[in-house]
Amino acid sequence: MTILVTGGAGFIGANFVLDWLAQSDEPVINLDKLTYAGNLETLASLQGDARHVFVRGDIGDAALVDRLLAEHRPRAVINFAAESHVDRSIHGPEDFIQTNIVGSFHLLESVRAHWGGLQGAEREAFRLLHVSTDEVYGSLAPGDPAFTENHRYEPNSPYSASKAASDHLVRAYHHTYGLPVLTTNCSNNYGPYHFPEKLIPLMIVNALAGKPLPVYGDGMQIRDWLYVKDHCSAIRRVLQAGRLGETYNVGGWNEKPNIEIVNTVCALLDQLRPRADGQPYAARSAM
Ligand SMILES: NC(=O)c1ccc[n+]([C@@H]2O[C@H](COP(=O)([O-])OP(=O)(O)OC[C@H]3O[C@@H](n4cnc5c(N)ncnc54)[C@H](O)[C@@H]3O)[C@@H](O)[C@H]2O)c1
Repeated sequence: MTILVTGGAGFIGANFVLDWLAQSDEPVINLDKLTYAGNLETLASLQGDARHVFVRGDIGDAALVDRLLAEHRPRAVINFAAESHVDRSIHGPEDFIQTNIVGSFHLLESVRAHWGGLQGAEREAFRLLHVSTDEVYGSLAPGDPAFTENHRYEPNSPYSASKAASDHLVRAYHHTYGLPVLTTNCSNNYGPYHFPEKLIPLMIVNALAGKPLPVYGDGMQIRDWLYVKDHCSAIRRVLQAGRLGETYNVGGWNEKPNIEIVNTVCALLDQLRPRADGQPYAARSAM
């Protein structure tokens, strides 16, 4: 048996591939375009490991995806590939439309054609798991309860709108064609190999370099924070036992305003890497 992972050189996808192969010998075909966000160094420990086949390419390249599906006959496709950075989507939304909507559509079409040709137990067992975000539900105000799967879609950025569009396409392919899909909507991940422009690594890198800590507005925007390895476990569980056509929210029960995250990072750095001048790192945050 084999799985096809897309976007497996990115932050969550790479953690997923590493965890998967640490726990099982089931091979992974890893399809990734290697945009600015993809980093093969994260997967360096898998060099020479026959269980990991890396293919550089686009989820929207139907000929390539069709070939990978036909050649490797994966029992599941797990779609992490996306443009994922909200700020970048505000400055240049086109790549987000192209990969998150058009790319997801082409991937769905390839998977539908492949699944349509399967028979018996192979067809029964096949799954497409689409990894999405809780940002499709909009934002939480202080005191709001956590998002549930029944929350109305209220995307607020080109990023979340493009992810919402892909979620709807995935849902429609289940209802229209019976495609065996599962969708997960997770909150903000943190952990190893996080891209340095995201909040937690950015704060660490800037603090250590003695630069200001850029916090938006009053820093009171609330997000739920999820350790990436917990997210990977949840995805494995949904893949194993999820009900077809269902969506599953994955969170950390860990809602915090951004400023609290920044202050926690600073307090940890004060302990682990105290500044030479004895000042606390938090004093440098620019509100
Ligand atoms: N990071 C988070 O906190 C978070 C939260 C919720 C949901 N998500 C979702 O999880 C998934 C993975 O997020 P991430 O943080 O690992 O993202 P990331 O930006 O770190 O990685 C995305 C990966 O996809 C690849 N990619 C981009 N376009 C591609 C294309 N057209 N074809 C093939 N590969 C392509 C990139 O090269 C990169 O390796 C995304 O779908 C994202 O929307 C992430």
